[in-house]
Amino acid sequence: MSALGHIASFKVVRNKQGGRDLPWSKEQNSLLSTDRLSQAKQIIHSWEEFSKSPLISLCDYALDLDVLEVLYKDEGSRFGINTFKVLGGAYAVFKYLQTETTRADTSELAANTTFVSATDGNHGRSVAWGCQKAGSSCVIVLPDEVSLGRRKSLELLGAKLILHPGTFDDCVLLASKLAKENGWVEISDTAHNETDPIPSDVMQGYEISSSEVVEQLHRPPTHVFVQAGVGGFAASVTGHFKRTFGSKRPMIIIVEPMTAGCCFQSFQSGRRSRQEGDLETLMGGLACGEVSLFAWEILKDHADAAMVISDDEVAETMKLLALESAHRQPIVAGEAGVASLIGAMNACKCEETRDILKIDTTSRILVYGTEADTDPELYKSLIGV
Ligand SMILES: Cc1ncc(COP(=O)(O)O)c(C=O)c1O
Repeated sequence: MSALGHIASFKVVRNKQGGRDLPWSKEQNSLLSTDRLSQAKQIIHSWEEFSKSPLISLCDYALDLDVLEVLYKDEGSRFGINTFKVLGGAYAVFKYLQTETTRADTSELAANTTFVSATDGNHGRSVAWGCQKAGSSCVIVLPDEVSLGRRKSLELLGAKLILHPGTFDDCVLLASKLAKENGWVEISDTAHNETDPIPSDVMQGYEISSSEVVEQLHRPPTHVFVQAGVGGFAASVTGHFKRTFGSKRPMIIIVEPMTAGCCFQSFQSGRRSRQEGDLETLMGGLACGEVSLFAWEILKDHADAAMVISDDEVAETMKLLALESAHRQPIVAGEAGVASLIGAMNACKCEETRDILKIDTTSRILVYGTEADTDPELYKSLIGV
């Protein structure tokens, strides 16, 4: 057994319809583009709390996994919200207000606007943070089983909560209904139709994370493992690497919980497919049953494979990152935050998967630490501190 633990159960599927030589299409460029990325940077870089998130080399993991490098993009301290999500939801609030007003009456519009969003935690905190910053009202619809800690942190940001006895997908439907009935603006991180521009603004904001990675690296990674819920973040990562490196882009592998593998199912069937069941997983932010329409438009062509992983290794991986090592400071990583690292570890430790994904001793692997202790109580109970 290696120092980083045994191989847990996981599955990999290749995306047979995708490929590195496929072009970046007009439709894809209408969702994520270099011009729109500049616009997002203009707004997000102007927030006084902004700083780049760190890219950390996990030398101990590289050695153990028999690859050249494992790099961890640590989104755990973004804006004190402790997740990359703030780049999306909060940006979409500001983008909406900027688009709808002239500069002179932005604050008046902000004060008269209520934003509504469905969340299982992190997206809602991002929207609530944006609303608080902009001076708007915020209503968050969330499954009633979401932990007390997550609920409290939303309330602290001034959001009004509506608890719903259903899954995240049920909450999305309710948020849309409430927006229509009350004249509220819905900030959704998932697209169900082509006409709502907001989910693509959310993805565009996320892309800042990968644009930082490209600036922080001397040379591009060979493999990128990225976790997915509705796939918006994974699409932003995929889009950035595709637009930056073209057919020389890294191999892109989507990682999902075994119980919520909607990309996995979609790659398996060759079309956007639903994951049935209660979607229950410890990796709460990833408990989504359907890939966003906009994310699918990008992932179907430019992602190479999907993996599903079990909850079994989550707490152990969080604990290992929290330990100081000779090479790095301790890293605080939350449940969904460690998913891509778990995916990479499993892939590297399995000869058959190494072959499928062309991983060897020269591979430079990038993973995304997408959250820190966004639910501090749960974090403490899982790592035993
Ligand atoms: C911590 C964390 N990581 C990853 C994701 C996945 O992002 P997406 O739903 O855009 O795929 C989420 C979604 O909420 C999340 O909270």
